[in-house]
Amino acid sequence: MNKVTLAENIYWVGVVDWNIRDFHGYVTKRGSTYNAYLIRDEKTALVDTVKYSFSGELLRNISDLVDTQNLDYIIVNHVEMDHSSSLPLVAKQAKNATVIASEKGKDAIIEHYGPEFNIQTVKTGDEIQLGKRTLRFVEAPMLHWPDSMFTYVVEERILMPNDAFGQHLASSQRFDDEVDPHVLMEEATTYYANILMPLGPLISRKIQEVVNMGISPTVIAPSHGIIWRSNPGKIIQSYLDWSKFKSKNKLVIVFDTMWGSTDKMARAICEGAASEGVEVILMKLRSTEITDILTEILDAKAVVVGSPTLNNSIFPTLAAFLTLATGLKPKNKQWGFFGSYGWGGGAVRNMIETAKKAGFEVHEPGIEVKYVPDGRFEKVF
Ligand code: FEO
Repeated sequence: MNKVTLAENIYWVGVVDWNIRDFHGYVTKRGSTYNAYLIRDEKTALVDTVKYSFSGELLRNISDLVDTQNLDYIIVNHVEMDHSSSLPLVAKQAKNATVIASEKGKDAIIEHYGPEFNIQTVKTGDEIQLGKRTLRFVEAPMLHWPDSMFTYVVEERILMPNDAFGQHLASSQRFDDEVDPHVLMEEATTYYANILMPLGPLISRKIQEVVNMGISPTVIAPSHGIIWRSNPGKIIQSYLDWSKFKSKNKLVIVFDTMWGSTDKMARAICEGAASEGVEVILMKLRSTEITDILTEILDAKAVVVGSPTLNNSIFPTLAAFLTLATGLKPKNKQWGFFGSYGWGGGAVRNMIETAKKAGFEVHEPGIEVKYVPDGRFEKVF
């Protein structure tokens, strides 16, 4: 492996997953990486591991730099399996290593992999001295699991916040100044929208807490994607903006259609809003990934959702979209609903009920049209 150096004796030892396209429902069109870091000092620490299927590559990357048996610490910032499922294999070789985790992390390690680890728990502010370097820990519960924590290399001011500030982006490059900045921010936005969107208040409080602890990173090294070293303040500011749901004069129309009636309604809404100077994004399910729709919704002021009625209820693609959207709890948005039906209807009513139950700000009534909007069928697809 070519050595990837974050600072003297601090290395990226992760792996690139070029082929992953579905990350438990999140469509990762540009693949991903599982980042792990190795710090060599009087004592040697590995920060996080990788997904089990890449464990051989991780072990090779480590052994290119140190004898794995001599690892002193394995830091587990987060137990989700994309970062911890190689832990048993690494720990088997690093027989004398102490595993470092939060209290909840310890529980999760035991519940995932059994009790056979030498685990030392840490709390916010605790430090471990490796030699010249100090590792300081910051618990980050529910960002995004109860066990989550950040590791900070004090002397080099490198923050390793695991999932926070990541992107699903496979690349032969490792640093932000080496990749297309637009692609990088697109993937960082998609990642935030699809994973971290409901955690906005926690995120802004955690960023403030980290600042109050005197942590001012010059490098942010997340567990997925590209490492921020040219301007880490940019991604921190983006997280603060996203966490406040800063929005613009933008409408997202999400719909699906059976025989074109809901499609016609969607286009009419699109034309009307655009004629008023609103930026409109029209997104048809079955032609668009929900992952991309949720990303567009992040900075939209309004979302209107259209569904034909099928079996007296919501069309299945819209039901799946609403399940994800209500779970991610986007705030500061107006929601509207529309759709077509043949006889009894039900889709619009059910969508409104679902949205109100989730606490969305719903514009009522919805718009429903029987059969064909202007009484005239036209081939629209
Ligand atoms: Fe990348 Fe929460 O795992």
